[in-house]
Amino acid sequence: MRILITGGAGYIGTHTAINLLENGNDLEIIDSFINSYPAAIKRLNYLKNILKIDSKFNIHNGDLRNQKFLEKIFSDSKKSNNPIEAVIHLAGLKSVGDSIRFPEKYWDFNVNGSINLFKVMEKYECRNIVFSSSATIYKYQGKEVLLDENSVIEPTNPYGQTKAEIEKILQDINKENVNKWRISILRYFNPIGAHSSGLIGEDPFGEPNNLFPAIIKVSSNQTRELKIFGYDWPTIDGTAVRDYIHVMDLAKAHYLALLKLMEFESKLLILNIGTGIGTSVLDLVNTFKSINKCDIPYSFTERRKGDFPYVVADNKMAEKILNWKPRNTIEDMCIDGWNWIKKNPSGYPK
Ligand code: UD1
Repeated sequence: MRILITGGAGYIGTHTAINLLENGNDLEIIDSFINSYPAAIKRLNYLKNILKIDSKFNIHNGDLRNQKFLEKIFSDSKKSNNPIEAVIHLAGLKSVGDSIRFPEKYWDFNVNGSINLFKVMEKYECRNIVFSSSATIYKYQGKEVLLDENSVIEPTNPYGQTKAEIEKILQDINKENVNKWRISILRYFNPIGAHSSGLIGEDPFGEPNNLFPAIIKVSSNQTRELKIFGYDWPTIDGTAVRDYIHVMDLAKAHYLALLKLMEFESKLLILNIGTGIGTSVLDLVNTFKSINKCDIPYSFTERRKGDFPYVVADNKMAEKILNWKPRNTIEDMCIDGWNWIKKNPSGYPK
């Protein structure tokens, strides 16, 4: 199948792309490189060759808000008699802090970019999509409560609001176009780790906002110590609990969701993608230290604004519907994250 992947040079994008290529799909990859590196695409190609994968990909440098740019990709693929059959839509801005500072930028990039994409898909009769949403849209339900897909949606920052808004637009499209669109919305929990080759991984611009990239920076002596945000949360060790999932398990869920969609005339499939297992900040730090035999100095600071003590998925629906099980443990995630940073101390070549 020929699949378009937006944001394909990013962290989730490169890992999803290699999984799709391995499964025999040809890809059209779009990325604007405002938050990713051209070197990631070179690495993807290198990895594809090492793994002796025959499927091919093309890269298109551009922005989803540019309708002409999008139309050309769809029309060229139509002319080639091998039209794009499905879209995996990952592109979007994702920093919570920036979204609070620049809300209009987030609404423009994320929501307007998505609307443009959906319009062009409709025009070219490509109506199969997997959209990358986030657990951040859920309202906090209390400690030890697993979040299922019917949990209340109440995002607390503009980034989360744009994700919830795009979900609503897709749900409206589904209602208005019965028997036409096949839509899957994947609500990611906390993807971490890297491809086991160490050739692709997460390389955030500037100071990392998220825990795992912050840990690997400390482990490789690029930052002196990890700041742990809060020691008095109502959890087992006082640090916040999350549901970390290996990025390759997440990548696989995209392809399985797409295959599942193709079995139906029309479908709206909303799934949590997590492991269902809670891990505290200290658990993650200690596992990383012991499995990789390295040091992670840390100190405690005040809680980060907008954080919750416990965010863990009820992932039963995804396991059942996709016949999918996250295979990698927290140890695997730590081993692969360490392998990535050891092989690429400064991330991708800049
Ligand atoms: C964060 C975002 C969420 C986004 C997700 C993926 C917030 C409030 N939430 O989720 O919207 O979808 O990233 O991009 O920003 N921590 C530390 N020290 C650090 C970094 C993090 O102690 O240097 C703690 C955090 O307080 C949190 C846990 O580690 O308790 C996980 O943090 P993070 O990796 O940022 O993920 P989320 O907070 O789940």
